[in-house]
Amino acid sequence: MTSTVPGIDDVDPPSQRRGFGIDVGGSGIKGAIVDLDTGQLIGDRIKLLTPQPATPDAVAKTIAEVVNGFGWTGPLGVTYPGVVTHGIVQTAANVDKAWIGTNARDIISAELSGQDVTILNDADAAGLAEERYGAGKGHEGLVVLLTFGTGIGSALIHNGKLIPNTEFGHLEVGGKEAEERAASSVKERNGWSYEKWTKQVTRVLVAIENAIWPDLFIAGGGISRKADKWVHLLENRTPVVPAALQNAAGIVGAAMASTSDVTH
Ligand code: BGC
Repeated sequence: MTSTVPGIDDVDPPSQRRGFGIDVGGSGIKGAIVDLDTGQLIGDRIKLLTPQPATPDAVAKTIAEVVNGFGWTGPLGVTYPGVVTHGIVQTAANVDKAWIGTNARDIISAELSGQDVTILNDADAAGLAEERYGAGKGHEGLVVLLTFGTGIGSALIHNGKLIPNTEFGHLEVGGKEAEERAASSVKERNGWSYEKWTKQVTRVLVAIENAIWPDLFIAGGGISRKADKWVHLLENRTPVVPAALQNAAGIVGAAMASTSDVTH
């Protein structure tokens, strides 16, 4: 179809598939329009501070501000740092417990003009994005992305298909939860060296690989930016590559989720 508006085809090629993603983090709520053909953000992101306390209503209002800042009226994807099934929040490990049991999809949609909202786990979103456009691109087989931050998030992807809501950060490894052993917050809190922390990460990776035998691990989260300091110290058997999309992965994965059926 040809546009009747002079010049608009130069700006907005009709073939470009766009989505909108919001990444909800502990300190910021970021959103952007995403080119789903390339996985690139279109224009700038908007980042607003996460309201404190980060209750569902307060967060939904901030999300709406970000979305309205772009004038976006289509469907959107939103990340959440816990388990979400069918739009209902099931866990809140590192966020306000008021989230548990809420229908986050409806709460956020009600703050907008009833737009379709897809909510998915933050690590699942990052995994989708890294697998399609980033560190996992071109890798067949079973890929596990882990995000190392306040906790440990995980995404399990088989030949491009996400198996949602794996929670490898809460696996018990040697009598302790994986994320209490090897989240990057544990390194910071204890003032550990990379050597010391990486030994704990190795234990977590070995526990996962013994259970599900992945072909590839992708290491994400803020500390993946310093991958040259620690990834070579790992002693598990499965190859580990650092995430490539850095802090855009959540936004991109959320936008992907808004246009395809990847949640449950
Ligand atoms: C939550 C995960 C989340 C991860 C990173 C964990 O504590 O259980 O669902 O993906 O933190 O935010």
